[in-house]
Amino acid sequence: MIDQVTIAKIMDAAQIKDVVSEFVSLKQRGANYIGLCPFHNEKTGSFTVSPAKGIFKCFGCGEGGNAVHFIMKHEQLSYVEALKYLAKKYHIEIEERELSEAEQQQQSDRESMFALNRFAQKYFSDILKNHIDGKSIGMSYFQERGFSEAVIEKFQLGYCLNEQDAMTREALKNGYKKEFLQKTGLSYFSENGRVADSFRGRVIFPWHSLSGKVIAFGGRVLDARTKGVSQKYKNSPESEIFKKGNELYGIFQAKNAIVREKCVYMVEGYTDVISMHQCGIENVVANSGTALDVAQIRLLHRLTPNITLLYDGDGAGIHAALRGIDMLLLEGMNVKVLLLPDGEDPDSFARNHSAEEFVEFIRTNQLDFIRFKATQLLADAKNDPLKKASAITDVLNSVSLMQNTILVSEYIKLCSDLFEKSEAILYSELNKLKAKRNKDEFVKSEEFASPLPTENTFLSLDTDLSNSEKNILRFVLQYGNETVLLRNNNGEEVEVRIAEYILKELRCDNLKFSDTLHEIFLTELEQHLGDEGFSPSTFFVTHQNPDVSLLAADLLTEKYQLSRIFSKNDVTEKTLNAMTSTAKRRIEELKKQQEEDKKIWLINAVNSAINEYKKIVVSSKIKELERCLRDNTAADVTQMMKEHARLSEIKRKLASALGQVVVK
Ligand code: CTP
Ligand code: MN
Repeated sequence: MIDQVTIAKIMDAAQIKDVVSEFVSLKQRGANYIGLCPFHNEKTGSFTVSPAKGIFKCFGCGEGGNAVHFIMKHEQLSYVEALKYLAKKYHIEIEERELSEAEQQQQSDRESMFALNRFAQKYFSDILKNHIDGKSIGMSYFQERGFSEAVIEKFQLGYCLNEQDAMTREALKNGYKKEFLQKTGLSYFSENGRVADSFRGRVIFPWHSLSGKVIAFGGRVLDARTKGVSQKYKNSPESEIFKKGNELYGIFQAKNAIVREKCVYMVEGYTDVISMHQCGIENVVANSGTALDVAQIRLLHRLTPNITLLYDGDGAGIHAALRGIDMLLLEGMNVKVLLLPDGEDPDSFARNHSAEEFVEFIRTNQLDFIRFKATQLLADAKNDPLKKASAITDVLNSVSLMQNTILVSEYIKLCSDLFEKSEAILYSELNKLKAKRNKDEFVKSEEFASPLPTENTFLSLDTDLSNSEKNILRFVLQYGNETVLLRNNNGEEVEVRIAEYILKELRCDNLKFSDTLHEIFLTELEQHLGDEGFSPSTFFVTHQNPDVSLLAADLLTEKYQLSRIFSKNDVTEKTLNAMTSTAKRRIEELKKQQEEDKKIWLINAVNSAINEYKKIVVSSKIKELERCLRDNTAADVTQMMKEHARLSEIKRKLASALGQVVVK
């Protein structure tokens, strides 16, 4: 754990221009610097660095953030790793938070296990390349499978001798402890004192973490022993350094290619990954035969949102593809599926085709996930209307998980064609599914209960609400510290900061932002607004929570800065000096006037952002009431009608305020 003071020191030292310059050549343009974006291919620079705001932004591909985000993205590091990277660059000693004794123990346990695994990996590789049995048994197995020397090296493959405990003895001799041999699962110690190498007689596939540490091993028996003997593959047990659901086989070797190709291929097994690399396709990982875990998806999502699942063309492959995919959608991934021709797996396909052929095959045959799922389920349902109805619900449920409303509308169109149902009916069903999930009482769907099309309200409201919250935050970040003169209840003029004004306006109506990330801004603003020298933009851009700082950077780099109209026509010092005193006075007056105009504009703009937001909140409350009244779930109808009238009146007022904004 890096403590907060150290994080602040790093943020302070890591000047954005300095950090970026190491990787991108920058040219000054006004207050900003421009260069060629390192995150996408471009010929003219749309990559902008603003030293004043401490952020970078590419107007071509949309990447943006502070110095830490830049390093995370460019070097494919986690947040903490990026902080450590910058600390090193700026010679800041990382004062890790004092660890408790238990934590220290755990930390050093982990390090001991990594060290032991590294030792074992080197040992297994050495045996494979240099030991007589390693060469004649292990190496010849790999050669028979057609693995090249380069790929064996790249994946650090190895062999464990078929002797009782040769590896364990060697490890103990080198000072590695029994405790860790046990914890990593490399060795087996029985109660009666017998010792055994867990992977004896197997070829070894080491697993690496994203940063290249050896976290586990998979061992495969040799072909001769496959039949009837033990499991084909044996894997390291879960441990403090290996949680299978958090890891993906091949991620270390694939990470750069995934970013470069802007997509990742997901396959089932070790040998699929390795053969594809050998064929020249490097953006590939395996989840090793198990169902996908959310943590694995998030790991990938840091590198790309685009994923294609490659499966065998048999029933098992299809089944596997249909499982677990909803999770990918929920995490905002764009999912495609490719079924290989019958009898082929990625391993065999890669061995029989060139990289170009393989990639081309994927490109032309991969199916958008929704289309894939719909086609599969429809084929299963044939003409059974009940099965067909449940297929539709199943597909719509996947659609309802998507975050992007434009995509949702595309898919509704597609489903309308495939299922021969009107879009209105599909939307109505979609909204029901969402509502059900919102109430946390998701039940597997029955038949369509009501074919009445309803307005597509949830979708638009969700995004409108979120956008209006963001809009308010934009004012907090860009103008939070500016002051305006307002009249208080006693009729006195008081100077109020915009951030303070916004908070008061929201909190006096007990409003909390619906998006938890957005609400973090408000609560922290409440806590820190009174701090000396507090600046909302600096505070949030350098915030320790990377999601917060990323959003802050984003809101500060909207293409059309709100203040732009007011920054034009600025007179330089030099011109000012050359003027007569009357002209100077005139200019001063103009400037003052402009300053006042800006304040009026600002307070009006803030008010309308707040009113817009409140109107959306009220509208959704009204919709909810109407739904209750319509569905007869209202407990007290008269009370509800009253509330409905009250809210409608507020909504009317807000709407009229939005039409003609008044200066207070
Ligand atoms: N697997 C496993 N344990 C098993 C069987 C399979 O961990 N007993 C995992 C391995 O990661 C394996 C993947 O599931 O790579 C896919 O299994 P399979 O297709 O049977 O293995 P292949 O990778 O095709 O291996 P091979 O070609 O050597 O049979
Ligand atoms: Mn295989």
